[in-house]
Amino acid sequence: MSKDGAPLVTKTALITGVTGQDGAYLSKFLVDKGYEVYGTYRRLSTPNFWRLHYLNVFEKVNLLPADLIDVGSLLDAIRISHPEEVYNLAAQSFVGASFEQPVGTGEMNGISVTRLLETIRIMNPKIKFYQASTSELFGSGHLSASNEEALFRPSSPYAAAKLYSYWMTKIYREGFGIFACNGILFNHESPLRGLEFVTRKISNTVAKCALGLEKELRLGNLEAKRDWGYAPEYIETMWLMMQQKTPDDYVVATDDSHSVKEFAEKAFDVVGLDWQEHVKVDKKFLRPLDVAYLKGDSSKIRKIGWNPKVDFDGLVKIMVKEDLSRWERWQNGERFPWDASNYPGEDKILSRYQEKDK
Ligand code: NAP
Ligand code: GDD
Repeated sequence: MSKDGAPLVTKTALITGVTGQDGAYLSKFLVDKGYEVYGTYRRLSTPNFWRLHYLNVFEKVNLLPADLIDVGSLLDAIRISHPEEVYNLAAQSFVGASFEQPVGTGEMNGISVTRLLETIRIMNPKIKFYQASTSELFGSGHLSASNEEALFRPSSPYAAAKLYSYWMTKIYREGFGIFACNGILFNHESPLRGLEFVTRKISNTVAKCALGLEKELRLGNLEAKRDWGYAPEYIETMWLMMQQKTPDDYVVATDDSHSVKEFAEKAFDVVGLDWQEHVKVDKKFLRPLDVAYLKGDSSKIRKIGWNPKVDFDGLVKIMVKEDLSRWERWQNGERFPWDASNYPGEDKILSRYQEKDK
């Protein structure tokens, strides 16, 4: 029996991008459901399995080396794992970086999805396929909530590549009968979020400010609004879509939107500090194009049983408290798997826009 008392299923799933935020949470979710889980990771000079360790799931996931741009490795991952369900989460997931590496982002977030779909079509078209699509597809110009029918106006190389893979997923569904779903997920965050994303950058820096380890939080566009939810609740929808009778596309969101400024203000509130004394705007963090406003309408996925609980205030608290606890433990000499202690600090990282200014 699983933790919630439901009978365990014995299915096999392959997750690409198992070392990322969503990959780690999805691994834990599926392992707890009784799945045999395989996960792909790419070869790096330094291992980065800290999220799987953090969730105590590292020992339970079967690891397969694969790179999105290497078709043979994807083919092997499917041949070895024999999955019933493939969750394609691997991607160059940072919108900001996509302006600096547009070609690589196109390969990884666009073409590679066709590589995977082709592999499934040829090897076993009965495999179900989940594609990590995104609210970035909606892009700029929306003034109200977006549902599955809203217009796509991508505003970054990241979003353009994800739009291509969104359509390819639909095309393989309609053209080849593959059970393929697009999860159009709005921003979802957690203490396992990468440090370059704005929410975690804020929670980590706020924690350091509270402990006297940092004074300033340098941010870009404070006015941008996002529909931010809690990642562990979002990954549940990936599985839910794959259990339906027919494949479809679903928006996943809290249906609520807040600005970066509000996030920073609330985060400093959690530790009793005034955000205005610490936040500085730095144009290094502005993008050539930025989506001003994103808000979802997730009625469709809620109709099939999704019922998230964590709201904006709750999310900010979870993230700040966890980063605070990590830095406190660190100060007390405790060492545990975690990213921030190895992060170089963004002052050390040059951007091509800084070069342009000289
Ligand atoms: P993440 O933490 O950045 O994880 C991305 C994963 O992709 C990592 O495991 C990464 O491996 C892997 N990867 C990157 N390039 C690869 C390559 N060339 N070959 C193989 N693996 C590669 O992102 P996330 O937040 O978990 O997001 C998961 C997916 O959902 C992504 O496709 C993202 O675009 C999409 N999405 C995310 C959100 C969100 O708010 N989080 C919203 C909508 C859609 P390394 O660990 O080696 O870097
Ligand atoms: N990263 C970052 N750093 N963003 C900043 C900063 C900063 O210092 N200052 C302001 N922002 C603004 C960005 O300009 C953007 O408008 C907003 O904060 C959110 O930025 P990110 O956290 O980097 O996320 P994102 O919305 O660009 O992309 C994330 O969500 C997408 C779904 O909408 C990623 O997870 C994507 O992979 C995902 O598809």
